[in-house]
Amino acid sequence: MIARELIALPPFALDVEQGLSRIPKSLPPKLFYDQRGSELFEDITRLPEYYLTRTELAILRERSREIVASAGHGIAMVELGAGTAAKTTTLLQALSSTQLRVQYFPVDISRSALFEARKRIESELPSVNVRSVVADFSEGFGFLRDMPSPKMVLYLGSSIGNFDPSEAIAMLQQIREHMFTGDSLLLGMDLVKDLSVLLPAYDDLQGVTGEFNRNILHRINREFDGDFDLDSFAHRAVWNPGRSRIEMHLESLKAQTVRLRLLNMPVCFAEGERIHTENSYKYTTAMACQMLANGGFTLSRTWTDKRKWFALHLAQI
Ligand code: AVI
Repeated sequence: MIARELIALPPFALDVEQGLSRIPKSLPPKLFYDQRGSELFEDITRLPEYYLTRTELAILRERSREIVASAGHGIAMVELGAGTAAKTTTLLQALSSTQLRVQYFPVDISRSALFEARKRIESELPSVNVRSVVADFSEGFGFLRDMPSPKMVLYLGSSIGNFDPSEAIAMLQQIREHMFTGDSLLLGMDLVKDLSVLLPAYDDLQGVTGEFNRNILHRINREFDGDFDLDSFAHRAVWNPGRSRIEMHLESLKAQTVRLRLLNMPVCFAEGERIHTENSYKYTTAMACQMLANGGFTLSRTWTDKRKWFALHLAQI
């Protein structure tokens, strides 16, 4: 239906058409991150229930010197999905105290976030030379080829947890292809834990995560001339023990037909039918070790917080 008009349609047309045509329905989580979605995600990272960001930051603050020392001498730092690089300052500080010059390559799809990162880091840490790289990881990691070695590649925030394990391994393999002896990878991963902690992190009292989830429908309405009624979809966060992941869904509260005029597409929902919008995998250290091994890395050290809620894994090639 779409092919004949593909040129004129917005970038995610095929994802939206295919995702809403299949059973069970699904939408890719990359759709969350329009301007509003990115702001809502920033709000999520500050929620009392969302322990991930602050726990990872606390480990980084406490262990930066050790982490940097374990990665070797004279290293450059590359950060995948750096955003505004808010968490990285502490590692860069630790590196600056052992090296005269530090080269930092923040990589992100958002040019404006990289601009902000560079401005702040250059004023706070004058010995750090920031060289921003705008890149979309779905197009590969070829940009790593131009970066110096030895280097430490950072992939923080449990972002790898939003990919299915097979996709995550493929991504690790692609990163590995551009790494050399002496290079290392620092990977932030959320740990498996009690559901009394996990579930509220994805279903907070203020409803910010619900708004983040429903924003995907708002975006589809805007970009595809749709008529999703946001109030008739409820946010659901559930733990899938067999897959070790939190799943986010949007549940239709009634039988309804939604129209996406730009795609010339009616979408029928039964009452209680769900759209699967996101997976957030949680890994034990043993699972992380296996995933890294499948990606071509050897796990060399793990740092966690006292409650063992979050892990930073350092891996070598
Ligand atoms: C970006 N990512 C690591 C977040 C997570 O925890 O999986 C996305 C998120 N979804 C709902 N809350 C946060």
